[in-house]
Amino acid sequence: MGKVIVLDHPLIKHKLTFIRDKNTGSKEFRELVKEVSMLMAYEVTRDLPLEEIEIETPITTTKGQIISGKKLGLIPILRAGLGMVDGMLSILPAAKVGHIGLYRDPETLKPVEYYCKLPYDIEERELILLDPMLATGGSATAAIDFLKEKGCNSIKLVCLIAAPEGIDAVQKAHPDVDIYVASIDEKLNEDAYIVPGLGDAGDRLFGTK
Ligand code: URA
Repeated sequence: MGKVIVLDHPLIKHKLTFIRDKNTGSKEFRELVKEVSMLMAYEVTRDLPLEEIEIETPITTTKGQIISGKKLGLIPILRAGLGMVDGMLSILPAAKVGHIGLYRDPETLKPVEYYCKLPYDIEERELILLDPMLATGGSATAAIDFLKEKGCNSIKLVCLIAAPEGIDAVQKAHPDVDIYVASIDEKLNEDAYIVPGLGDAGDRLFGTK
């Protein structure tokens, strides 16, 4: 079973409170989501392998450690996932960014892919899938299905807020995927919004509605 890692650092908790507040406008909302994503990047990359190299300081020769192994890929799920990209990239500037767009078919209620542009070497990268809200888990599960079909075998899911229902769904469908969240909220309401949540993340990021 994949792990669920709750990043309950005081800075993240503080910022998340203002992200949730309905009186926080889009500009501040975007800045806060960026800052929390940056802080989350620190923990999400904690298990990256290191290798030792030799360098010269101005004083002497010494050994230092650098990140080794697979390269990283950031995959925001459109559109709300876009809000997490800049924060992650500020810590992980060498990561490549791919995009996945999904919509829910009104008849089948199943997620359908409408856009996909991924780095050419996607199957060789460790992927960090970004979606601020893990609600039913439908989009995240479909996006992971899709990435696995393309040959990806190392995927982490990073969300700001998750509902228990979404975590269950992803864990059942993809037990190999670890989930990183800033908060696990109480439940979903009848419209599949997370309670207490923050409302519609895409609308709040982009000032729509
Ligand atoms: N997507 C959102 O943006 N908000 C929710 O509460 C659930 C899904």
